[in-house]
Amino acid sequence: MSTYLVFGGTGNVGRRVVERLARAGAAVRATSRRPRTARLPTGVEVVTPDLDAPGALDGVEAAFLMWPFHSAEPARSVVDALKRHARRVVFMTGGDARPGVAPELQPTAVARWHAAVEHLIEQSGMEWTILSPSTFMANTLWWSEQIKAGDVVRGAYGSLRTVPIHEDDIAAVAVRALTEDGHAGRRYALTGPEVLTQEEQVRIIGEAIGRPLRWHELTREEERARLLAAPGFPDDFVDELLDGYATLVTAPAPAVTTAIQVITGAPAAPLAAWAAEHASDFGGAPR
Ligand SMILES: NC(=O)c1ccc[n+]([C@@H]2O[C@H](COP(=O)([O-])OP(=O)(O)OC[C@H]3O[C@@H](n4cnc5c(N)ncnc54)[C@H](OP(=O)(O)O)[C@@H]3O)[C@@H](O)[C@H]2O)c1
Repeated sequence: MSTYLVFGGTGNVGRRVVERLARAGAAVRATSRRPRTARLPTGVEVVTPDLDAPGALDGVEAAFLMWPFHSAEPARSVVDALKRHARRVVFMTGGDARPGVAPELQPTAVARWHAAVEHLIEQSGMEWTILSPSTFMANTLWWSEQIKAGDVVRGAYGSLRTVPIHEDDIAAVAVRALTEDGHAGRRYALTGPEVLTQEEQVRIIGEAIGRPLRWHELTREEERARLLAAPGFPDDFVDELLDGYATLVTAPAPAVTTAIQVITGAPAAPLAAWAAEHASDFGGAPR
């Protein structure tokens, strides 16, 4: 039986890809730097992310790849290792990497390194599919400590509009692209079903946990200081994130795509459904 490799198998999306493949009875190998605590389904083989390690890619037919590195530095060795074994790769790129634009001309560092990986994959000779998702619903977990502690979420750019997407919808598309023919050479722009400001997202989470929540606007500098002090938030991502928000807040409203419905046959999940599933993460009663 051929094996599916899920690189980043403990991540927001990778874990869902692993679970979906395992439920379908596929042989799955997932990477984690901490295999012992990966908590993946029984039967899933968990390996370290060193794809050059002996046997790391033996028997791998198709791979799901995301990019956890804050640089394009390891891209060539990762893609070279994959192409020696896998026939097919599904790459989840960063939302702001502009298609058809050279890596060095991309607008942000995040887009530059994702575009560099895309370019290597497209030239690799593997069958490739690129998934370009909108903002993950899981990003709202950044507010969880504030929401557990009170009814106010402090942040900058409350009017920023995004089209939040359920990570399991991305995984559903990834599994289709990994296991079915007909997705080679395609780039899918994946979004959730509705455009929402950050303030509206906070309100929807409040409805899910049965407690009215409100947004309190901070200046960029106040938000920068708050994020730098927040445990667990990567310091080297704070300016990237805020630069991205500053650009997006004045941009036209993002588009909603129908790709999830078209590819999987099921509609994209709304934030209200995601928030109900995650109510306990915000201090609400588990559903
Ligand atoms: N958040 C968004 O709104 C959004 C939108 C569009 C695209 N994206 C893209 O989605 C990606 C993040 O996906 P995600 O949220 O599913 O991931 P995530 O939850 O942040 O998880 C990261 C995964 O990568 C692994 N990992 C972290 N550092 C690693 C390293 N140095 N070497 C090897 N593996 C490493 C982690 O495994 P262990 O910790 O178990 O080792 C984990 O499985 C990024 O490329 C981002 O640009 C995000």
